[in-house]
Amino acid sequence: MSDQREERPQHFETLAIHAGQEPDQTTGAVAVPIYQVSTYKQDGVGGLRGGYEYSRSANPTRTALEENLAALDGGSRGLAFASGLAAEDCLLRTLLTPGDHVVIPDDAYGGTFRLFAKVVERWGVEWSVADTSDPQAVRAALRPRTKAIWVETPSNPLLGISDIAVLAGIAHEAGARLVVDNTFASPYLQQPLALGADVVVYSTTKYMGGHSDVVGGALVVNDDTLGDELAFHQNAMGAIAGPFDAWLVMRGIKTLAVRMDRHCANAARVAELLVAHPKVTRVLYPGLPEHPGHEIAAKQMRSFGGMVSFQVAGGEQAAVDICNRTELFTLGESLGGVESLIEHPGRMTHASAAGSALEVPGDLVRLSVGIESVDDLLADLTRALG
Ligand SMILES: Cc1ncc(COP(=O)(O)O)c(C=O)c1O
Repeated sequence: MSDQREERPQHFETLAIHAGQEPDQTTGAVAVPIYQVSTYKQDGVGGLRGGYEYSRSANPTRTALEENLAALDGGSRGLAFASGLAAEDCLLRTLLTPGDHVVIPDDAYGGTFRLFAKVVERWGVEWSVADTSDPQAVRAALRPRTKAIWVETPSNPLLGISDIAVLAGIAHEAGARLVVDNTFASPYLQQPLALGADVVVYSTTKYMGGHSDVVGGALVVNDDTLGDELAFHQNAMGAIAGPFDAWLVMRGIKTLAVRMDRHCANAARVAELLVAHPKVTRVLYPGLPEHPGHEIAAKQMRSFGGMVSFQVAGGEQAAVDICNRTELFTLGESLGGVESLIEHPGRMTHASAAGSALEVPGDLVRLSVGIESVDDLLADLTRALG
C-alpha cells in the first residue's frame, strides 16, 4: 500500500468507495475504467509497462476490485471470479488433495452442496454434513484428515447462525481452516477474518453487485502464502471475473453500506408482519429474539440482513401459491439486489439438495427483501398471503 493510502480513513463506507480506486493515472478518470482488453504491449520481450501481460493472469479493472475486496474484509488478498461457485471450486482445489475431508453445513446453498456431492467427491475428497450452529456437532464430525470446516452464516435458505469465533477455534485446534460463506451478510454486516476465519467466500452476484445485473464470486484471505496459492490456481484454472463484470461489482460495492442499512430495516418490518400473520407457521429471521441464533448474530453481525424465510400453513402447495401471487416481490432465484425477490427453495434454488441431508422443507418460502418502500412491500405480501 502507498503512504497516501495508509493516511486514508479506515471506515467501511470510505473504503468501499476508495480502496483500490485510484483515479486513472493517464486521464484522471474518477471511476476505474473498464480495461476491456486481453493482452498488453510489451516494450521488448519481458518489458511489461504496468505489470500486466495477459488478462487471465491480471487485468487492471479486476485488480481494482480485488484490492477493494481485500480492504473491505480486512484481508491481505482478494480474488475475483466468474461466479461464486467458481470461487468455491478454486478454493477447494487449492486447499484439498484426494483423501482430505471437509465438514459442510446441513443447510448450505444447494449449489455448494452439489459442488461437494457431484464434483469434488469424484476427485477423492471426502465430506460430511454437520449442524454448524452446534459446535459439538462440528467437533464430532472432525476426522484425522479434516482440512476445512465450511460455514454459511446466515445460511441459505434457513437463516441458521453459526458462531464464527467458536468454529475458528475448533478448526484451528484440529489443524483445519475455517471457511465462511459471507454472501448473506456481506462484509458490511459481518467480518469473518476478524472473528478468526481463514477464508471468506462470496457470491458477489448478490449484495456486493446489488443490482441483479452481474454474476461473480470472490475469495478473501489474510494469509499471504494461501493468497499466492489461490492466485496461482485462479490463473491456472482460469475462471476469472471479466473486466466489465468486475466493474459492475465494484460499482455495486460503492453503495453497499447504504443499501444494506435499508435491506436490514425493510427485512425487520417484513419479519414483524409475518410473525403476526395467521397463515405463517414459522418465521426464520435472525433479528427475531426467538430465533435460536439471535444472540450470536447480535454479537457477530452489525445488523441482521435482508433475507427472511418463512413456513406456511397448507404445506408445499400453499407456499408455491404465495410465490405465484406476489406482484412487487418478483418470483425468481438469486437475492441481494435492490428489487425484492420471492422464491420456493425446495423447487428452485435448493432443488439439487432434494433427497439429501440438506433437503429443505416444502412449505418454505424465501424472501430477498429489497430497498423499495417498505409500505409497498408489506402491502404486496399481505395481499399474496390472502
Ligand atoms: C450463499 C451462497 N453461496 C454461493 C452461491 C453461489 O454463487 P453464484 O451463483 O454466484 O455461483 C450462492 C448462490 O445463490 C449463494 O446463495
